[in-house]
Amino acid sequence: MNFQALLDDIDAELRPELGKAGRVASYIPALARVPAAQFGMALRTCDGEEASSGDSAVPFSIQSCSKLFSLTLAMQVIGEALWERIHREPSGNPFNSLLQLESEQGVPRNPFINAGAIAVSDRLISALGAGAKERLLEMLSGLAGEPIAFDAEVAASEAATGYRNVALGNFMKSFGKIDNDVAAVLDFYFHQCAVKMSCRQVAKAAGYLCRDGAHPQAGNGSLVVSERQARRLNALMLTCGTYDAAGEFAFRIGLPCKSGVGGGIVAVVPDRLTLCVWSPAVDESGNSVLGTRALELFASRSGLSIF
Ligand code: DON
Repeated sequence: MNFQALLDDIDAELRPELGKAGRVASYIPALARVPAAQFGMALRTCDGEEASSGDSAVPFSIQSCSKLFSLTLAMQVIGEALWERIHREPSGNPFNSLLQLESEQGVPRNPFINAGAIAVSDRLISALGAGAKERLLEMLSGLAGEPIAFDAEVAASEAATGYRNVALGNFMKSFGKIDNDVAAVLDFYFHQCAVKMSCRQVAKAAGYLCRDGAHPQAGNGSLVVSERQARRLNALMLTCGTYDAAGEFAFRIGLPCKSGVGGGIVAVVPDRLTLCVWSPAVDESGNSVLGTRALELFASRSGLSIF
């Protein structure tokens, strides 16, 4: 399949739509300043073939796409015990909702809503201590094959205005489900959300998800996660990766996806490729409007689907 031509066609078709629908997330002040009229796509096949279009090399705040990578790190270092405090069901609620946490005694519905990612952060700090942030960057840099960093301004902006995340952390702590100091847990969480990467880097870094867990860097030969864990990550992406729009994503796109409120979405075609799309204007569920449409066009024109 000529993936480059496909991405070029999708870019040409959607670029005139830039700025017409959705809004750049404004509840994190540093994100509100990002120009909306940007649109990039990048993919990488299991064999290392790459294709990209538009603003695919522009670094953006990956936000909740990072939850995929922090969960991967937690699966590596904690294993099965991770699931003692995190469920694996779609929430059907907004990503930052507190509602279910009360009736479910402080155990988050899944690792991709904010509460779940904060719980994962807590377990990582227990396992890795103060070095957890560095360890995440090391993992990402190894996967992408180039240095990956936090955007300090975005991390500070999240910390200054993350009232809901502070509430979620403290609420879980009140149920005895957070072991560490809530401020330390949130410091890790805010930094992971503030990781800055381009579509090309994300598509490459996520490569283990389409290769049964094998490291995406050619010649590395190691496993990032086991085949079973890679399948589970894909299952969680499909059912929970786009929050209260996960059903709609499965219906319209049919691929495991993980979105971020910075406008990025990473998608996996198991055994074929990983794809990252980015356009900053998001809808009410926090998913990129143009990114979603781009994935829909990609899936329908390529015929690629997990179903
Ligand atoms: O904690 C937050 O609210 C943001 N840093 C991340 C949320 C997010 O990316 C939701 N995704 N679509």
